[in-house]
Amino acid sequence: MKLGILGAGMIVGDFLTMVKDIPEIELKAILGTKRSEEKLLKIQAENQIDKAFTDYDELLEKADVDTIYVALPNHLHFDYAKKALEHGKHVICEKPFTLNLAQFMELKELALANNLVLVEAITNQYLGNYQTIKKLLPELGELKIIECNYSQYSSRYNAFKEGTILPAFNPKMGGGALMDINIYNIHFVVGLLGKPKDVYYLPNIEKDIDTSGILVLDYPTVKAVCIGAKDSTSEIRSTIQGNKGSILIDGSSSTIAEVNKQLNGEEDVIYQDNAHTNRMHEEFRAFYNMVASHDMTLVKEQLEHSQLVMEIVDQALTSSGIVLG
Ligand SMILES: NC(=O)c1ccc[n+]([C@@H]2O[C@H](COP(=O)([O-])OP(=O)(O)OC[C@H]3O[C@@H](n4cnc5c(N)ncnc54)[C@H](OP(=O)(O)O)[C@@H]3O)[C@@H](O)[C@H]2O)c1
Repeated sequence: MKLGILGAGMIVGDFLTMVKDIPEIELKAILGTKRSEEKLLKIQAENQIDKAFTDYDELLEKADVDTIYVALPNHLHFDYAKKALEHGKHVICEKPFTLNLAQFMELKELALANNLVLVEAITNQYLGNYQTIKKLLPELGELKIIECNYSQYSSRYNAFKEGTILPAFNPKMGGGALMDINIYNIHFVVGLLGKPKDVYYLPNIEKDIDTSGILVLDYPTVKAVCIGAKDSTSEIRSTIQGNKGSILIDGSSSTIAEVNKQLNGEEDVIYQDNAHTNRMHEEFRAFYNMVASHDMTLVKEQLEHSQLVMEIVDQALTSSGIVLG
């Protein structure tokens, strides 16, 4: 895979640390802004990336890339991914995929019409521990309740309170608790249960954005609650309950560091089946394989999953009057 990276921020830093363990991914180009050019060139040199650009058109025309990794602020995902697809490039797009379902559908149609890989970088779907949870579910008997709580007080919330609106809390830039943090919980539940019959979002809204919120996903025989907060902290954990036992995941639904199975009347069993300590390793290994083998069957499956998530996001935001972008 000949990769062009868009963005030089926090997630790209994590990505570059991880990608050293996947030598099949060749780092051909990186795009940053003119205002941060010095930082961009430092990142390029430190990570032996072939070329650095501050002009996207130039990157698409001159760089020797077959795949683009969109790691830009949320409101830029759609335009930058679309342009890459129009230039015949495969696209790996950071979460949340787009700001709304209509944008997602346009990208999906464009990618499939041109036989290109398009996939959302959402860690939990690719983790070994998540596959283990799927296998263990039948042991819990009749599933009843799933609860995912990802609540982490954001240092940017202080600035927000004082009137400085950074991207994470900016509706125009696709910020908010649902898009930034609760999105992992939605992927977690949808990957296990599929499409819910009803969606209810109860957000705490300040200055037109959800700083925290509770999303209820209503399935015929299972009730799921996804809690995401950037204005308060709690123990971060997820639980899955059935009439014969439960599964407990301490820590975030993006990392799923360990799975604890607690069956009624039996000793707890702990599973750790993630292939790597870095949460991004398994997803990028999978993306490399998808591109290398041009596995459009898997691409379509993953797009169906992302579409269900985008449908939920759309419904949640629309029903609570939150307007992004
Ligand atoms: N941070 C995380 O832990 C994390 C985890 C998972 C997923 N993500 C996702 O990754 C994406 C990026 O998040 P982040 O935390 O890395 O954000 P970030 O730290 O704010 O970085 C964004 C980067 O994009 C650059 N950028 C902004 N506009 C640009 C443009 N028009 N052209 C080229 N570069 C531009 C920024 O440059 P300047 O600094 O000059 O503005 C910066 O380098 C988001 O979609 C987020 O949801 C983040």
